[in-house]
Amino acid sequence: MQPSPILFFDSGIGGLSVVKEARVLLPEHAYVYVADDAAFPYGAWEEEALKVRLVDLFGGLIARFSPSLIVIACNTASTLAIADLRADYPGQPFVGTVPAIKPAAERTCSGLVSVLATPGTVKRQYTRDLISQYAAKCHVRLVGSENLARLAEQYMREGFVDEEAVRAEITPCFMEHEGSRTDIVVLACTHYPFLVNRMRKTAPWPVDWIDTSEAIARRALTLARELPAPSRGEGPDIALFTSGAPPASLRRLVSGFGFGLVEEKVSAEGEPGLLRS
Ligand code: DGL
Repeated sequence: MQPSPILFFDSGIGGLSVVKEARVLLPEHAYVYVADDAAFPYGAWEEEALKVRLVDLFGGLIARFSPSLIVIACNTASTLAIADLRADYPGQPFVGTVPAIKPAAERTCSGLVSVLATPGTVKRQYTRDLISQYAAKCHVRLVGSENLARLAEQYMREGFVDEEAVRAEITPCFMEHEGSRTDIVVLACTHYPFLVNRMRKTAPWPVDWIDTSEAIARRALTLARELPAPSRGEGPDIALFTSGAPPASLRRLVSGFGFGLVEEKVSAEGEPGLLRS
């Protein structure tokens, strides 16, 4: 097993958008990627049940891998559970991923900004607090998409997506008010950067799409500099899927991102086994 890897976590394969940037900035570290695909998508989960699942799951992952750093490459999980995870695992450094509302408020010219996210992220108190703290002078529209994360996974696996379906999901982001138009859309789900070209193509007018992947990787780099020097060890980087049964297209995809795959279910106790649900 690789010593003290950086562990990346998402409900699915969207977190690979952050891994892609991290591979450039942190090439000398060992990586573990965990996709909680047994529970995908997170967007529709009831908050308390998802929080319990995340705290249990991370307990097992920390016990098993002793990660030097955990990057929660998922807005839906971070906005819900980052505070609980930090409180429950105080010695463990975490990097969270939350909607880029502050940079959007700083950058907008029209004052009309949309945050495109899962239904879970748009209803979080965390997200609403970011808006009142940093974007009180803007008109921020929260757009919760039921289908985009799934469409992004389809596109990543099959290289094809129905553009009309993408158009339907992003259309509510576009506002016109007293001669002004939305000029920024925050991509507040790590799956969405994979679809950004399709979004550009189907948008009614050009906007600035804010993707935080590189900023998250930079934050990981800052924290990693405070850690002991990394050593890659012998083994390959590994990817775990909580379903234990990812399809072949997913296996190919993660190996394209540099992961040798271990197919197994992940238990809260950190050993292969059935995930508590
Ligand atoms: N990639 C996740 C995020 O950043 C969520 C995808 C989902 O589970 O719906 O929010």
